[in-house]
Amino acid sequence: MQVSPTLKRALAAPLLLLLVLWSLTLIVSQVLGGRLEAWNDQQLLSRAMRAVPHIDAARGTSEVQAALAGLAREEPLLAAVVCGEDGTMRAAEGDLPGDFTCREQLPHGLLSLKTADGTLVLVRDTSELAAHRRTVNGWLWGLFGIGAFLLAAATLVLERLIERKLLDDLRAEREELALDGQWTEARLRQLVSAQLRATEVTVVSNREPYIHTRNSQTGEVKVQHPASGVVTALEPVMRACGGTWVAHASGSADREHSDPKGRLRVPPGEEAYTLRRVWLTPEEEAGYYYGFSNEGLWPLCHLVHTRPDFKAEDFAKYRDVNARFADAVAEETKVKDPVILVQDYHFALLPKMLTDRMPHATVVTFWHIPWPSAERFGICPWRDELLEGALGASIVGFHTQQHCNNFLEACDRFLEARLDRESNAVVRRGRQTLVRPYPISVEWPNRWVQKSPPVDVCRKELRAELGFPEDTLLGVGVDRLDYTKGFEERVQAVERMLDRNPHLVGKFSFVQFAAPTRSSIPQYKALNDRLEALVEKVNAKFAQARVPPVKLLRAHHEPPAVFRAYRAADLCYVSSLHDGMNLVAKEFVAARDDEQGVLVLSSFTGAARELTEALVVNPYDLDEAADAMRTALEMKKSEQKGRMHAMRAQVKEFNVYRWAGRMLIDVVRQRRHARFSPLKLVSQAA
Ligand code: G6P
Repeated sequence: MQVSPTLKRALAAPLLLLLVLWSLTLIVSQVLGGRLEAWNDQQLLSRAMRAVPHIDAARGTSEVQAALAGLAREEPLLAAVVCGEDGTMRAAEGDLPGDFTCREQLPHGLLSLKTADGTLVLVRDTSELAAHRRTVNGWLWGLFGIGAFLLAAATLVLERLIERKLLDDLRAEREELALDGQWTEARLRQLVSAQLRATEVTVVSNREPYIHTRNSQTGEVKVQHPASGVVTALEPVMRACGGTWVAHASGSADREHSDPKGRLRVPPGEEAYTLRRVWLTPEEEAGYYYGFSNEGLWPLCHLVHTRPDFKAEDFAKYRDVNARFADAVAEETKVKDPVILVQDYHFALLPKMLTDRMPHATVVTFWHIPWPSAERFGICPWRDELLEGALGASIVGFHTQQHCNNFLEACDRFLEARLDRESNAVVRRGRQTLVRPYPISVEWPNRWVQKSPPVDVCRKELRAELGFPEDTLLGVGVDRLDYTKGFEERVQAVERMLDRNPHLVGKFSFVQFAAPTRSSIPQYKALNDRLEALVEKVNAKFAQARVPPVKLLRAHHEPPAVFRAYRAADLCYVSSLHDGMNLVAKEFVAARDDEQGVLVLSSFTGAARELTEALVVNPYDLDEAADAMRTALEMKKSEQKGRMHAMRAQVKEFNVYRWAGRMLIDVVRQRRHARFSPLKLVSQAA
């Protein structure tokens, strides 16, 4: 039978104890036996010594014999003899063994004592002493037996308990590190507390989850939830995991709502994690955020025909700001092996900076936007440094396998690195970086949906607020005012639909929520102007209609207003020309607990791969998009229900907790692997 190492370990201690117990018993038995004998001898000797003066003083043999008789009567003596110096027996009393002579005293348990002219020899009965020894030994070994039995029983019980505990731990770990089943906030929290309890989880992103802004007219401070996919996804994760979120302080009242180090506990009123704000100078913001991030990388990564603008001074600021965030993360880190989740294209250099400073940290970098083909990426003058920066992470994550492939291809083409195709990893200078698809999602159940009024109330309220008749068919779009979102194509598609379906004129309006963003960048300003003009033109064309074809609401809208719009709409059109995932599509699905409403979705979003029951269109194809919107408006309730039901099941299962859970499970595995990896030894030696 094979004995498991665990069992061997469990048995080693009791066996050792048993050996110790056995040796102890043996020693005690020997010592006690010796003591008993010595004590016995002592007793006899003192008695004999008392008799010696009488023997010495005896005037004749009869007096000697009388003294010996007194001795010989006492147990355990058999006989008492006085031998002369010449070896003759002068006197004897008691039951003397037949073979006893004064010359050759046989070992009958003899004790001898000098007298004036001879030796007093005491012959004792050793059987009693032996009996005593046997009794003592009997007790001792009896006790040993009981001890050994108890020990064996305790070992057995202990071994069972240990095995059960090990099995329970294994089962729990297997369950924790399994992906299947429903992911919830509680399950994610459990994973973190069980598997990463000894460490800290830190998130780094450019956009902060809570922005304190002061209204310049009223002086009133408001907390804003920014329109950002990163924030939408990570906020619920941080609520579940706790830890620290390091981000750029972009609000006008941020400073007075943080401590001197830029820290505050959030969410306001439901404090669950720490937000650490980092202030940037206007020059840093211009070079790092507006410049390299949004004029360089953003158009580089999106196939939207906007020329990337690469300026060396912007990249220098980008590098500086990445280093400043590395400082801030290091300041917030108390353990030597933290888990750091770096978010997005603003921090391509940060992973390497962090691992250079904290070699035991596990850095994951998640790229929330597409990663372009190697050919396209190759035009960036700092492509090698960007790739090297990202490879500082243990894991690089993207929304889709296609983006992973593009990244791997870029590493292969531009760096001296080995691609491990089997495990989808890049190995460079002995360091391994896994490249993994983690399709991002939204929280489920959704906090904002739970707080929303019923769908019919949302429908009535929004139409009333817009001044539209109650029976107006509504389309809705929710986006940052960004040229990747296909605003113009969307408005043109609405125009095309009305052109081709005059019966919908005055019955349908598309409400576009557009959150201004990056407005100091010329392309964003230009888009804003073009969009305004286009909406005006299309609305003017249908000026007689009861409701305008497009209602452009250009402002930041807080989640309650956005979710009310999702719930009030008949269709939601996401027309991105290129989008890593697009969480608006998933939020719309999450919002429709009535299983009504139709999603018209650009095929150029990551979401289109998962939400296959949406009406998937090419946003550049205005006819196709117009037809899809009409189909959506005419779709039977039962079909709407079927499609929405399927999409809701998908978003429910593949929610943001699963996204984070999957990533953190890989982190746990990676950390375990790193402890024994030969690659790590190579990198340490290098
Ligand atoms: C995208 C990016 C995010 C960014 C968000 C909002 O979703 O991937 O990183 O936060 O847009 O953009 P902004 O520049 O306003 O933060």
